[in-house]
Amino acid sequence: MITTPIIEAHNLTVLYGRKPAIWNVDFKLPEGQVIGIMGPNGSGKSTLLKAIMGVVNPTTGYTKVYDQELEKVRHKVSYVPQRQDIDWDFPASVWDVVSMGRFHVRGLFKRLTSEDHDIIQESLEKVNMLGFAKRQISQLSGGQQQRVFLARALAQQGELFLMDEPFAGVDIATEEMIVNLLKDMKSKGKTLVIVHHDLHTAQSYFDHLVLMNTRLVACGKTSDVFTDQILTDTYGGKLTTISKISQELENKEFPIRHQ
Ligand SMILES: Nc1ncnc2c1ncn2[C@@H]1O[C@H](COP(=O)(O)OP(=O)(O)OP(=O)(O)O)[C@@H](O)[C@H]1O
Ligand SMILES: [Mg+2]
Repeated sequence: MITTPIIEAHNLTVLYGRKPAIWNVDFKLPEGQVIGIMGPNGSGKSTLLKAIMGVVNPTTGYTKVYDQELEKVRHKVSYVPQRQDIDWDFPASVWDVVSMGRFHVRGLFKRLTSEDHDIIQESLEKVNMLGFAKRQISQLSGGQQQRVFLARALAQQGELFLMDEPFAGVDIATEEMIVNLLKDMKSKGKTLVIVHHDLHTAQSYFDHLVLMNTRLVACGKTSDVFTDQILTDTYGGKLTTISKISQELENKEFPIRHQ
């Protein structure tokens, strides 16, 4: 039982044209946890985050954040879109992008203070990108771009973070750095909602899971929902991968990465 949900979705359906991306989804997510959103390609994960953030409008149903409409609490919510949803040719430096996190707090036409300056610097340091502050974002590698957007989210100093595949295309060292950052954020009471693909790391990264395949397949504590049956229901035909995973779960092997 979740007493104070930080995000809830009720009867949420999103259609693109006549095709459903999300179909009649209901769930409640707990505060202060690291929550994974998982499901195959095209299963509606990004659309779900966009619906929560008001980037797409639901066809039916609604979502609430902190029991309110998003607009009332938007300043507390940071969103890191999926890589392909960002216009990387937009002429902005690394510093500019991270500054946006502060303008989000202060208001678009306000001047940033020296405190803002310190926060931007600190956020860039946390993701090891301070040395690239003046670089145009178009001139960064994929993993570096990912880190800049993470820094923008950190600079906003929100309470709730929605991140769409922050581990996509990053190397092992960067993934480890992000995982440590997430742990640190959780220890400060932040709530993290993360779209993720790698089933092998799901159990170690997430306290709670939302498993989707256009419809909601399961939502609950990782220990309750990361089961053979639910994974098969979520990933459908890809049975070889699933059975490999359940085999590993049975053997309690150390998770390994299959490419
Ligand atoms: N702007 C759009 N216009 C039309 N259809 C879209 C649009 N965005 C997404 N879709 C479709 O909606 C469905 C869900 O897409 P979504 O991006 O939410 O999936 P996803 O689970 O995030 O996939 P991935 O793992 O590939 O990122 C897919 O069938 C996709 O083709
Ligand atoms: Mg996606």
